Amino acid sequence: MELFREGAVRFYAENKQVRKSEVFYNPNRQFDRSLNVLFVRCSGKKKLKGLELFSGSGVRGLRLCTETEKFASFVFNDIKSIDTLEKNITLNGKNLRGIRLDIKSQDAKRFVSAEKYDYIDIDPFGSPAPYLNTAFTLIKKGGFIGLSATDTAALFGSAQKACMRKYGSFSLKTPYSNEIGIRILIKKVEEVANSFNFSVKPLFFDFNGNFLRLYFLVERINNGHNLGFICQCSKCPNRSTEKSLKCGYCGSKMVKAGGLWLDPMFDKPFVRNMYRTAMHESGVDLEFNGENTMKIYGLNIVRGKNKKRISADDSITDYLKKLMKEKETVTYYTTDELASYLKTPEKSIREFEDKTVLSSKGFRWTASFESLIKSKFS
Ligand SMILES: C[S@@+](CC[C@H](N)C(=O)[O-])C[C@H]1O[C@@H](n2cnc3c(N)ncnc32)[C@H](O)[C@@H]1O
Ligand SMILES: [Zn+2]
Repeated sequence: MELFREGAVRFYAENKQVRKSEVFYNPNRQFDRSLNVLFVRCSGKKKLKGLELFSGSGVRGLRLCTETEKFASFVFNDIKSIDTLEKNITLNGKNLRGIRLDIKSQDAKRFVSAEKYDYIDIDPFGSPAPYLNTAFTLIKKGGFIGLSATDTAALFGSAQKACMRKYGSFSLKTPYSNEIGIRILIKKVEEVANSFNFSVKPLFFDFNGNFLRLYFLVERINNGHNLGFICQCSKCPNRSTEKSLKCGYCGSKMVKAGGLWLDPMFDKPFVRNMYRTAMHESGVDLEFNGENTMKIYGLNIVRGKNKKRISADDSITDYLKKLMKEKETVTYYTTDELASYLKTPEKSIREFEDKTVLSSKGFRWTASFESLIKSKFS
């Protein structure tokens, strides 16, 4: 095992490059974990009871405990890594004072607890779907669920049978497949929530190509959510959320993706709050092991006169700024799909106003495909 540092925590884990193990450190997810910290800091509540069903080395849970000042209690759970978890919790003990901690090694599918929680984290290898029952059994109304999905082949249309089996939806390979995947996953979470008499409100997401991360507020059941399908033309970029068998633009056959979530994939006011919080330092008391400053990826921690301060770095604020501006259309177009369909040179993404965080070539267009062609390509 090697000693790593991320955010305000130090922890032992296997170096993935050196040895294959269940408890390895994945530095590619620092950005995602820093956003997770920020999400919890913006949750608006205090004295939370937290449960992390898949702790691994504990880096995520330890960061949530030490960098948010939000938890009264926190349960770390992992079927395999209990020894590592114990070691890493001890190593960060100074910054965990005042939080009631527990370590469990239960199968997340059958996790039992007499308590209910305000924040539950699901971070498995693969699909989160098998663990949603556990989360909705144990979450409080008004609580938050953060979950990851790494089964992008199923969600993004490369493994359609797997998608139907796990999520009960048709996925489809399109230039905007990641959005289809996010919407299928939200629909699945809403369905399971409904079976527990809850509904969910998606508050925030991040995506890095190999994994998706979504955050939900758990609310009283609401039958008004908009679930449905996307109909995509088999020959041209035209698509619609209206039921249609024939493309209104070129007359070709439409193909269906879904069922999926057609309401917003995130909550603008919540993201604005995350952005504001990221822009303005807030005092968080941390032990620094003798160092005056810690420059870390995701969050900069600087020891001030009386307090140690946390502020987000540019990659975080840039992401939040983009998401805040994102238009709430269902699906986006990409400059390369249009160039290839129209057989014209590819336009620069700079020519389009409403960019999306989901693709460096993607932009949103609030009117019809026909109007896009007319106003930008003729
Ligand atoms: C992706 S890792 C968790 C990473 C961690 N949350 C982080 O941010 O670094 C998945 C973990 O789930 C554990 N695991 C796999 N199946 C499990 C199950 N059924 N119940 C509980 N833990 C499980 C593995 O031992 C592994 O440590
Ligand atoms: Zn068409």
